[in-house]
Amino acid sequence: MSKVIGIIAGSLRKESFSKKLGKAILAMAPEGYEFKTIRLDDLPVYNQDFDDDHKVPPAYSSFRDEVKQLDGFIFITPEYNRSVPAVLKNALDVGSRPYGKSVWDGKPGAIFSNSPGAVGGFGANHHLRQSLVFLNIPVMQQPEVYLAKVNELFDEDGIIKEGGTKDFIKNAVDSYIVWFNQNAK
Ligand SMILES: Cc1cc2nc3c(=O)[nH]c(=O)nc-3n(C[C@H](O)[C@H](O)[C@H](O)COP(=O)(O)O)c2cc1C
Repeated sequence: MSKVIGIIAGSLRKESFSKKLGKAILAMAPEGYEFKTIRLDDLPVYNQDFDDDHKVPPAYSSFRDEVKQLDGFIFITPEYNRSVPAVLKNALDVGSRPYGKSVWDGKPGAIFSNSPGAVGGFGANHHLRQSLVFLNIPVMQQPEVYLAKVNELFDEDGIIKEGGTKDFIKNAVDSYIVWFNQNAK
């Protein structure tokens, strides 16, 4: 049976570069692996009362069920104010509760950050790493993926252009698969 890797982009924007990267990465799944886009669009902001009062929004339940079925994750994060966009942090929080029932636990991950700017989302990348340590997601160390000038990567149809950056991303995906196999339970 295929291993299923969630492709989780931290943006809701229609023309999001992170989503376009996610689409490009979907096509890079090697044989024996299914890459699956995980939507974050419908998740309300986390409120512990929902869990404590047993009034869990259906969007939390379906998200938790979906992530539970995954074997690993590639997080594609933009950078908001040198950190992780709230939509992605919220998804981590929703999946991490109720306490002791985290759906992230022990599954290998990778972080691909990006920005139209020159720094490639370095701040978001490392803030995200901090949360993933607590969530017990072993995160690929190398290659580090900071994609700068991401706005120049796509053609007018939103398809990733051939070239060095696409090759670098493919190499990072292949490295993640090696990492996954070394760290999957
Ligand atoms: C609230 C906000 C904060 C931002 N802060 C940063 C930042 O700290 N560093 C950066 O490189 N870009 C920053 N940007 C620009 C984003 O990198 C850019 O909007 C990017 O396209 C967002 O990712 P997306 O295309 O996947 O939606 C910010 C954008 C917004 C809306």
